[in-house]
Amino acid sequence: MIVVTTPTGQIGGQLIRRLLDQGRKVRVIARDASRLDDSVRERVETVVGPHDDPAVLDEALPGAEALFWLVPPNPRAPSAQAHYLRFARAAAAAVARHDIGHVVGVSSAGHGWPDPAGVLSAAFAMDAVLSRSGAAYRALSMPYYMENLLRQLDTICEQGAFYLTWAGDLPLATIATKDIAGVAAGLLTDLSWTGQENTPVFGPDRLTPDGMAEVIGQELGRPVAYRRMGMDGYVSLLRSQGAGDQAIQDLTEAFAAQDHGIYDEDWASADPTPTDFRTWCREVLKPAADARTP
Ligand SMILES: NC(=O)c1ccc[n+]([C@@H]2O[C@H](COP(=O)([O-])OP(=O)(O)OC[C@H]3O[C@@H](n4cnc5c(N)ncnc54)[C@H](OP(=O)(O)O)[C@@H]3O)[C@@H](O)[C@H]2O)c1
Repeated sequence: MIVVTTPTGQIGGQLIRRLLDQGRKVRVIARDASRLDDSVRERVETVVGPHDDPAVLDEALPGAEALFWLVPPNPRAPSAQAHYLRFARAAAAAVARHDIGHVVGVSSAGHGWPDPAGVLSAAFAMDAVLSRSGAAYRALSMPYYMENLLRQLDTICEQGAFYLTWAGDLPLATIATKDIAGVAAGLLTDLSWTGQENTPVFGPDRLTPDGMAEVIGQELGRPVAYRRMGMDGYVSLLRSQGAGDQAIQDLTEAFAAQDHGIYDEDWASADPTPTDFRTWCREVLKPAADARTP
């Protein structure tokens, strides 16, 4: 039995399909079972509730050989550390109570970075807690998700532009969530690994934002430009959305660390995953753009 958190999320949803396709028994923890796809709901055991609740974990973990663990993103959390650690401590205690042998967690690339890195440091703090749970642990260590660009689909389609804080001419490491699910499925279906390690999961190419704009334009068949947003503009945007000082620091520290190369060491040692940026544009971005066109 493999227990999967966030089954309605981008990674969790794709992971479950892979596990079910391989004939694995899956138990999911979902806040709202009605949000599961019908085809999934019929084929999995479901425990309903949030996965930072010890009682929910006590219902989900008995008899499990492995756990897929993901802390839900919460950009409005007053403190990223507190958010990650609340989930991580609940998980580590439950893993120990139920003697779970293997845990695969969704983390970030850049372990060992010497400076504070906001939300990325919060993920590393989660890994430290889970590494002490008694289970073998793999921290999937990723850079920027290609799917983040889907949040800018309207802007891309209507203004022919997308915005990030990166320099347009610096390579940006990325990963398709499909490939994260693939690596997680591989680890969860072959439990021969031991110990606690970080597993860097990176896509095969590392385009600059300007290069990404060119590929997006070619795949969508319309010109698309990259526009760099200054950090001051980004902070103003966050404030206008109601973010507090700590939440702003958590995000700006992370972006500054990314600008200064926090992903570089993991990028150099990662086994590249299959999906390059152009393939992702063809398989995910273009269909999403077509679906929004009346
Ligand atoms: N985006 C990036 O570039 C990047 C890079 C590195 C690491 N990461 C990490 O990747 C993870 C995000 O993965 P993803 O994209 O697959 O997530 P996602 O698609 O945003 O899915 C979030 C999931 O969390 C569930 N959820 C939301 N709030 C919850 C709560 N309070 N309690 C319990 N469940 C809750 C949602 O379920 P319902 O709403 O259906 O209940 C959904 O299943 C985060 O941990 C993030 O830090 C992201």
